[in-house]
Amino acid sequence: MIAWSKHVRTITITDIFPEIESTRVLLRKLSLADKMAIFENYSDVDIYKNFMDKPFEKIEQAENLIKSFNSEFEKKEGITWAIDVKKDRICVGTISIVIIDEESAEIGYDLKKEYWGQGIMSEALKKVIEFSRKELLLKRLKADTYTSNNRSCSLLKNNGFVLDYIEGDSSYYCIEL
Ligand SMILES: CC(C)(COP(=O)(O)OP(=O)(O)OC[C@H]1O[C@@H](n2cnc3c(N)ncnc32)[C@H](O)[C@@H]1OP(=O)(O)O)[C@@H](O)C(=O)NCCC(=O)NCCS
Repeated sequence: MIAWSKHVRTITITDIFPEIESTRVLLRKLSLADKMAIFENYSDVDIYKNFMDKPFEKIEQAENLIKSFNSEFEKKEGITWAIDVKKDRICVGTISIVIIDEESAEIGYDLKKEYWGQGIMSEALKKVIEFSRKELLLKRLKADTYTSNNRSCSLLKNNGFVLDYIEGDSSYYCIEL
């Protein structure tokens, strides 16, 4: 069983990275072999503009990001999974939870454009919601996204998130687990 440490913004979790499988996707630990997949998403304007000001310009940035995601897991501050589409055997993006407190975490995600509109992220998100409830014993997940990011807002609403509030150009969503 994986459980929260009390009063710390970290989780007590097995050292083994939690792989999760569903019909079409495998959620697994990122490795440096995924650097091109990460680089491509983080330098695609339709993707990076939703969470960063500037695109990645060097492959080293993708390597550093992978290292920082994995170090976050080792420090029990969050989990970032690579999303593999099983039939194509490729990494198409990531989905993350970052600890806020012992009851809540924030979720984030990115998906290669060619795979939009197929329910791939929805499938991954459903699994991460289930994992957060059953294994991490979390009480809620939060997500903030630009209000203009229709795909992200639909993804959240279709998977049970409700709009909490809007501030500036961002919408803040929450799901009680
Ligand atoms: C946000 C993002 C992950 C959404 O991707 P997506 O493919 O639209 O999301 P879903 O996996 O929920 O797919 C939903 C679509 O798949 C369709 N679909 C097909 N088969 C489906 C299935 N089995 N289950 C669910 N939906 C299915 C739905 O009808 C819907 O299509 P539509 O967009 O034409 O209405 C993607 O747009 C992205 O990576 N954006 C850039 C990064 C980003 O914005 N991150 C968030 C920053 S806060």
